[in-house]
Amino acid sequence: MTVTPSRSGVFSAATDKRLEAFSESISFDHRLYKHDIRGSLAHARMLCQQKLISPIELQQIEEALAAIQEQIERGEMVFRPELEDIHMHIEQALIERLGDVGRKLHTARSRNDQVATDLRLWTRDALDRVDQWLLAVQRAFLARCDRDLPIILPAYTHLQRAQPVLAAHYWLAYIEKFQRDRQRVADCRRRLNSCGLGAAACAGTSLPIDRHATAQELGFESVASNSIDISSDRDFVLESVFVLAMIAEHLSGWAEEWILWSTVEFGFIKLPQQFCTGSSIMPQKINPDTLELTRGKSARVIGNLQTLLVLIKGLPLAYNRDLQEDKPPLFDSFDTVEACLSLAAPIVEGAELCRENISGRLEKGYLDATTLMEHLIKNGIPQRSAHHLVGKLVAVATEAGLPLAGLSDTQLMSVDLSLDGTIREVLGVEKAIQSYQSFGSSNPEQVKSQIQFWTDQLQ
Ligand code: ARG
Repeated sequence: MTVTPSRSGVFSAATDKRLEAFSESISFDHRLYKHDIRGSLAHARMLCQQKLISPIELQQIEEALAAIQEQIERGEMVFRPELEDIHMHIEQALIERLGDVGRKLHTARSRNDQVATDLRLWTRDALDRVDQWLLAVQRAFLARCDRDLPIILPAYTHLQRAQPVLAAHYWLAYIEKFQRDRQRVADCRRRLNSCGLGAAACAGTSLPIDRHATAQELGFESVASNSIDISSDRDFVLESVFVLAMIAEHLSGWAEEWILWSTVEFGFIKLPQQFCTGSSIMPQKINPDTLELTRGKSARVIGNLQTLLVLIKGLPLAYNRDLQEDKPPLFDSFDTVEACLSLAAPIVEGAELCRENISGRLEKGYLDATTLMEHLIKNGIPQRSAHHLVGKLVAVATEAGLPLAGLSDTQLMSVDLSLDGTIREVLGVEKAIQSYQSFGSSNPEQVKSQIQFWTDQLQ
């Protein structure tokens, strides 16, 4: 009969091999080894402080856990499905080294509070990494702001040409999105930073433990106050994956935009070739595969969020084994988003705007129509009337194949007798940009002060 640490004397039948294979999680939760050992060290120190183990036993446990960590890092620990998960592998390795002393580590602890704690520690580190990746992408966009400051781009709504904006204003828009992502990361981190170790299986323990000591040693901000809740709570897993799904959505939108911009049809941007691929049959092709995969991989993260929502739905208190299924989608979401972010920064940095192609397009599409309407409003024409009037001008100009500034006085007056050549003073994308006044607009002074703000913020 297989002797596993969790199988007590109550069993008289051996575990069916099919169950072993079905229920193991070591194939994926081995990634928790460092955090499991960290949690065990804190737990052992507290047990010693509370006189539940002796200082000599503590020392033996500390040394053995350090050796086990090295053994895992050298790839020398053999993972065995019959030991189910990382927690039992490490405990079993400890027992093999220390005998009865090793058998004491699990005092006042259950795998339920253990895995809840390990996963919080792991997720906290992973969120910190994501924050750094996001910062790197923000910095890459910020570096572009100065470089691209003189460049004007058409902004789109409904993917139709809308109004002229500074390229830097565009980049700042992405910085804002990633800032909100960073705020969500911080918020999620704050809420997960509560310690569940010592909740034991669900009810707490009759042994005289000190939960505040372990929480402090593990860098938690608080000690969770309900053992039933904390041993089974996985809100932080869902919240993290939601945050990651939002990041993936932002990356996907950006990727889609730059894929479009890099087409011959747009010709706005050249992607760095190190991050593009060729075609095995069409020699002329330079494909934006990194961006396509960034867009595509968002589907996995969004799917993982769905998986987790369904997994947790309807679980009664407290721990249920279903919760073991939280790890693959959690790990995969972090892996996917971290990989995308790590490539996003160099792509943002290395891409080049095609200034000539862009400026050649700015004359088309009546990007200055809204500014002209606002000019008429300033001259006392009600907005609805000005809107209608400029619409008619655009129709005349379209018919004649001219920009608004190219209309003759006669053509202007054919639309409305009050219109004369002075309106040309506000036409053209440069003037439109200068005429913006509102806070947060694409006015160059506004944009420069935003660049300054983010330069201070992101140092
Ligand atoms: N591998 C389990 C998980 O990931 C650990 C906890 C198992 N607890 C139990 N009582 N079977 O959730």
